[in-house]
Amino acid sequence: MATRFLTNHLRRYSTALNPFEEIPGPPGKGFPILGHSHLLLKKPHKFGKAWENVRALKKQYLREGDKMLRMHSPLFNPPHGNILFIFDPQLYQEMLTHEGKYPCRGPGFDPFIMMRKMRKDIYSETVGVLMEEGEKWHEMRSKVQQDLMRPKSAHFYIDEIQKVSDDFIEFIRQKRTHDNNIDNFLPDLYRYTFESICCISLDTRLGCLQLNMDPEIAKVFKASNDFLASFPEFTSGVPTWKFLPPRWNKTFRTAQGNLDILLDFSKIQVEDAIKRINKKANEESDNDLSLLERMILRNGPESTFPIVMAIDLIFAGIDTTGNSLGLLLYHLAQNPEKQDKLREEFKSIGSNLTVKDLDKMKYFKGCLQESFRLTPTLAINGRVIPEDIELDGYHIPAKTACWHYHQLFGEDPEMFPEPKKFKPERWIENKKDIHPMAVRSFSRGPRMCIGKRFAELELQIATHRIISNFEVKWRGKDNMGVTQVLINVPDHQLDFQFNDV
Ligand code: HEM
Repeated sequence: MATRFLTNHLRRYSTALNPFEEIPGPPGKGFPILGHSHLLLKKPHKFGKAWENVRALKKQYLREGDKMLRMHSPLFNPPHGNILFIFDPQLYQEMLTHEGKYPCRGPGFDPFIMMRKMRKDIYSETVGVLMEEGEKWHEMRSKVQQDLMRPKSAHFYIDEIQKVSDDFIEFIRQKRTHDNNIDNFLPDLYRYTFESICCISLDTRLGCLQLNMDPEIAKVFKASNDFLASFPEFTSGVPTWKFLPPRWNKTFRTAQGNLDILLDFSKIQVEDAIKRINKKANEESDNDLSLLERMILRNGPESTFPIVMAIDLIFAGIDTTGNSLGLLLYHLAQNPEKQDKLREEFKSIGSNLTVKDLDKMKYFKGCLQESFRLTPTLAINGRVIPEDIELDGYHIPAKTACWHYHQLFGEDPEMFPEPKKFKPERWIENKKDIHPMAVRSFSRGPRMCIGKRFAELELQIATHRIISNFEVKWRGKDNMGVTQVLINVPDHQLDFQFNDV
């Protein structure tokens, strides 16, 4: 109602606002279909570091006091192509207040939606919260919102994730060389996050942290990694899957094969859980139910929704959390005095963590925020706005894609003095000077990350165990940054030394 009023009001008075076309940006609408896309994807940064191109455009076109950049790309925001980059967290927050009941991030998952729709045995009801849009998204999100987002749900897994983390410590001890080195640690971090997220979403321990993985599990683990690795191929290759039979496209075919392995595996796990739940029905109070059990009981044994949701959690939860942990360890290894300070905090809390202990880790939270600021897990986020709005005195038409790059918010020297330095203290001593949207890795509002609580739990416990057990030293290249595939990945190999403390 309020939005409709605002839109009518804007239509009537839009002459008083500056038109969208007057927002600074490259001239005209660029090439047919491509629009200005080539400016975003320009070499040497290309898609992987597109924010560098946006930073250069900002420098080229914005005048003193300007906070937004206008572009045009029917390719990235079909069909009409309006794009707005926002450089000010306050303005971005204002834009989010107009995201509507069904916030929309825009297209990007098309090949994966197509693949999912081919598996009618699982995706007949929905393609899942991550990829659904509109009313259907709202319906699906409402079914799991409470079970996933309330802190109690994550706390249910505190003991189990501590066991997984203890296994990870043992894994590191066994895997490191006689000089205590492990090179290329990222796939090992994915073992930890895969084990953790399957424990949360499928009620099962897979055994990914055994040095020699069971061949069946190794196949599933490989399929999930290969599936995630297909994202950049989809963004850079010619999308023939759109126009021709999709299986003629090799990237599509391979990704679908990997998805099938994961789906078949998850289906068996959920079917096993249903059998377990039926056995212990009425034996336990609501508080003793796992996430999967809740989903099965809420949706009924015939529903495929618990499988769909479990798979979404697995896909969204392996590399996001794994990369974040790897980047945090990199910053701690590069800043040994901060690592020592964190170790002191962990020591004062003790080894067997309770829910109350998680709240006491103030310095850890500063370290994580600082790592997110310098090396964000996601490059970009935003909304395709459903209605005309006003922003910074300009009229922004409905269906404009309003985006921001995490990296560009986090480098503002006014909010973050000495922006290139890793200073967790700024989140403790000067938090009031930092805008709440400046580093908001999990986003906010009704479409924010639904796995936030679980990601934080995994990151917190793994870091607690690693830093309490090891002095972590960096052996790789300096000046680590990130590269965007779909999410951001570290742009150098992660080479560490783990010395016992
Ligand atoms: C450090 C790790 C993670 C970060 C930084 C992160 C960040 C995000 C962000 C920024 C979004 C988009 C929110 C928006 O558009 O407003 C998102 C969506 C989502 N995340 Fe995460 N995420 C992380 C880990 C996880 C984990 C562990 C899970 C699963 C347990 C997960 C599940 C999801 C799902 C299902 C969505 C889609 C929500 C929707 O569209 O309604 N994420 N995440």
